[in-house]
Amino acid sequence: MIGGSGIPRAGVIGWPVGHSLSPRIHRFWLAELGIEGRYEAVVVSPDWLGDTIESFRGAGWRGFNVTVPHKETIMPLLDAIDPVAHAIGAVNTVVMREDGGFEGRNTDAPGFIASLRATCVIQTDRPAVVLGAGGASRAILASLKDAGVREIRIVNRDRSRAEALAASFPAIVADWADRERILEGAGLLINATSLGMAGQPALDISLDRLPVTAVVTDIVYRPLKTDLLTRAQVRGNPVVDGLGMLLYQAVEGFAAWFGPTPKVTPALRGHVLAAIGQGA
Ligand SMILES: NC(=O)c1ccc[n+]([C@@H]2O[C@H](COP(=O)([O-])OP(=O)(O)OC[C@H]3O[C@@H](n4cnc5c(N)ncnc54)[C@H](OP(=O)(O)O)[C@@H]3O)[C@@H](O)[C@H]2O)c1
Repeated sequence: MIGGSGIPRAGVIGWPVGHSLSPRIHRFWLAELGIEGRYEAVVVSPDWLGDTIESFRGAGWRGFNVTVPHKETIMPLLDAIDPVAHAIGAVNTVVMREDGGFEGRNTDAPGFIASLRATCVIQTDRPAVVLGAGGASRAILASLKDAGVREIRIVNRDRSRAEALAASFPAIVADWADRERILEGAGLLINATSLGMAGQPALDISLDRLPVTAVVTDIVYRPLKTDLLTRAQVRGNPVVDGLGMLLYQAVEGFAAWFGPTPKVTPALRGHVLAAIGQGA
């Protein structure tokens, strides 16, 4: 163990890493549960990725989170990749196994579903509409498939990216221009684009064709209440904000590194929201 302390260590690696909210989440749980563990943010350039992983071995590291730009490039450097991460093609959480090997996982998919389930019922017999086909969409498609959603409709500005995703996770692909038409009959609408995020253009979509019973969720969490969620709420749709996904994706890593399974509570939400300058 580093420094001979024997204190369990975990952290997040990225380039840059200062924007990551993971230290705030994990340190909150460490303090709340009274665990003597460490969670560190480590800036790692792509050139140093392999050496950094090697330096973690035998140094008390139980694992770590992975953020941009390492989520894909880390995969061949690990000892094992779990089936979810393999299907998604990206790793956001690394866990040291009993044999000392590092296993790559992806907890965005279970985090997304857990966030939805915490506030609403997922209507698996009605179509889910996914806007966007970037990295986050891949995890969301995997989670919808795993949850048993029978029909997924996906639309992306660059249609070829949606088609590439649909090749791995069966989904009906539509043109970006048809994003309002495919809302008909849907039970779930997910904004997985970066539109609506602070500093980005607004998400231009009328909700007129969306049933009012459909759950609307936005994975953007800066701002917490996006224009999409505000408009959905006004017309009576149940809404789920994007912070839940971020918090729930952290649960599995914490439990694997430090032991107890932590809870996502209003106190944790408030603690993280304070860091991004928003009230709970
Ligand atoms: N809540 C959470 O835990 C969580 C987790 C992961 C990500 N996120 C958030 O989710 C968002 C997407 O993340 P990501 O990693 O998937 O990003 P990404 O891989 O860069 O994908 C961005 C997506 O947004 C679309 N897009 C960007 N600008 C657009 C525009 N002007 N018009 C139409 N579509 C546009 C892109 O379409 P094209 O393919 O056509 O460019 C693509 O589908 C980010 O805001 C991120 O912060 C939240």
